[in-house]
Amino acid sequence: MALPEERFPFRGHHTDQAFFADRDDRPLTMRGVTEADLPELLRVDREVFPEDPYPYFVLRQHIDAHGDRILVLDDGECLHGYALFVTTSDGYVCWVLSLAVSADQRGRGLGRRLMLEVLRQLRRERVHEVRLTVEPTNAAAIALYRTLGFSTDGRVHRDYLGPGEDRLIMVLEMGPDRAEPWQDPYRP
Ligand SMILES: CC(C)(COP(=O)(O)OP(=O)(O)OC[C@H]1O[C@@H](n2cnc3c(N)ncnc32)[C@H](O)[C@@H]1OP(=O)(O)O)[C@@H](O)C(=O)NCCC(=O)NCCS
Repeated sequence: MALPEERFPFRGHHTDQAFFADRDDRPLTMRGVTEADLPELLRVDREVFPEDPYPYFVLRQHIDAHGDRILVLDDGECLHGYALFVTTSDGYVCWVLSLAVSADQRGRGLGRRLMLEVLRQLRRERVHEVRLTVEPTNAAAIALYRTLGFSTDGRVHRDYLGPGEDRLIMVLEMGPDRAEPWQDPYRP
């Protein structure tokens, strides 16, 4: 059987030039996750979602099962964010399961960059629809998703992710005939 690196050729690969300097002047890059990232991935996830972090085994097995579906932001020493997305087995819909940027790095365009790279990959794969859930009170995330073309019918799905975990579902249609609804300021 092929090694994970061969089955998931994107794993560990850089998606972009180094594009940002963090406050210690270390350039940030966006790349596919590797197994060596697990401790940092857990740390970032716990920092960003302290109430409801993924258990170790869940992230571990996401990497095992679809390690090409996790993008990380790396400064060479630490991770500063990640996106996790999973496509349904018919290839039609992709769910963005997690989007996280460390609190001290927010407002610098990193969340948008992660999402744009996710959407670029999904477009290449001819996914028809991208879906995600978001807390109805999460104004920053909702604003970001709206600028990327996601919309919601406004219905709050009560207890969608468990008791008291209400969510909106936001959807981006991206059929083959649709123009890209999002603006990509990082590409000519
Ligand atoms: C949501 C999140 C990923 C955004 O990341 P970010 O790197 O700060 O976002 P960006 O700097 O790329 O901003 C992109 C857009 O998001 C929106 N946005 C970001 N921060 C915002 C804020 N505090 N208030 C309102 N809108 C905001 C804006 O539309 C912004 O576009 P603009 O810069 O042109 O105004 C980040 O806030 C985060 O990790 N939050 C905690 C985890 C979370 O909520 N994840 C999403 C779960 S569905």
